[in-house]
Amino acid sequence: MKITQRDFGQGATLYSLKNENGVQLEVTNFGARIVNLFVPTKKEKRNIVLGFDSVEEYLAQDMYIGATIGRVAGRIKDGTFTLGGQTYQTDKNDHELHTLHGGAPSFEAKLWDAKLEESEKKSTVIFSLKSKAGEHGFPGELMVSVSYTLTEDNEWCVDYEAHTDQLTLFNPTNHVYFNLSGDVEQAIDDHKLFIDSDQFACIDEAVITTGEKRSVTDTAFDFRKARKLETSFNSQDDQVKAVGGFDHPFFLNKPSIEHVSAVLTSPDEAVQVEVLTDCPAVVVFTANFNGAGPVIRGKKLTDHGGITFETQTAPGSERFEDFGTIEIQPNVPFRSTTIYKITE
Ligand code: GAL
Repeated sequence: MKITQRDFGQGATLYSLKNENGVQLEVTNFGARIVNLFVPTKKEKRNIVLGFDSVEEYLAQDMYIGATIGRVAGRIKDGTFTLGGQTYQTDKNDHELHTLHGGAPSFEAKLWDAKLEESEKKSTVIFSLKSKAGEHGFPGELMVSVSYTLTEDNEWCVDYEAHTDQLTLFNPTNHVYFNLSGDVEQAIDDHKLFIDSDQFACIDEAVITTGEKRSVTDTAFDFRKARKLETSFNSQDDQVKAVGGFDHPFFLNKPSIEHVSAVLTSPDEAVQVEVLTDCPAVVVFTANFNGAGPVIRGKKLTDHGGITFETQTAPGSERFEDFGTIEIQPNVPFRSTTIYKITE
């Protein structure tokens, strides 16, 4: 599978990977992002992810769409945590109160190094960067790589690896938004969603996890049988109403890349995406922009115009032991894999 390249503005490059089935993945070293994912259907070639046409548009409109997020995805309450007996203060880039997505600007705004690997059955772009010790308040120098592979089985595989020289926190994710209709003016209400999760994390009005793990049974969060998102958006569930949709971590029942943890299906059932991951949780954010969505490829993004599957450890793990740990140590490489598989 050949990888082609073109200029993406501001010194960045857009890499294009296309398999024999006509699935085309386009990624850039600006923020190590996914920009386009074209899927052939009977009728047309459909772009099923949100993205912009140049670095300038990302800078002007939205910094997280499709980006690699780090060092710590989600919010760190008050931008503070204790690690190895020491208290740290990180950037309060979220309303000057909390740390969001590792402080700003962070991984999403960097020009990553890129290395290409082409073979018959798959192609990979390996992005890497060094995050300096003390960056946005996080201890330890961190070497990070994220590899994007497109396979002939229509999988987009995301592999993270990181090495630190000091005890630190690390919880990366990818902020891809899917809209399987290919039309950003169409809300995802009619998409069907399955999530293999019995419990989700409650949040407060500032989208900070409260520590409560709530059973999905009899709530708007129960996707153990695939169903339309619409019913949840229209529900009176206090957690949905608090943020106008989903912005919540779901704890996965079986975190494994051998197991399908989530499935999203387009309204016309022409496209389906399966999510397989070794991460313990997935943050589902349904683009609750309340009228303030960006203009994507010439069209204004509607409310609920996309849905993320941010595979990670649930935000708040530095405060709540039963959320899992995001501490990483020197000499113990961090590794994690998520696969987004397109099926029809
Ligand atoms: C999500 C986060 C949302 C919002 C979004 C960026 O991961 O949970 O609250 O900040 O990123 O637009």
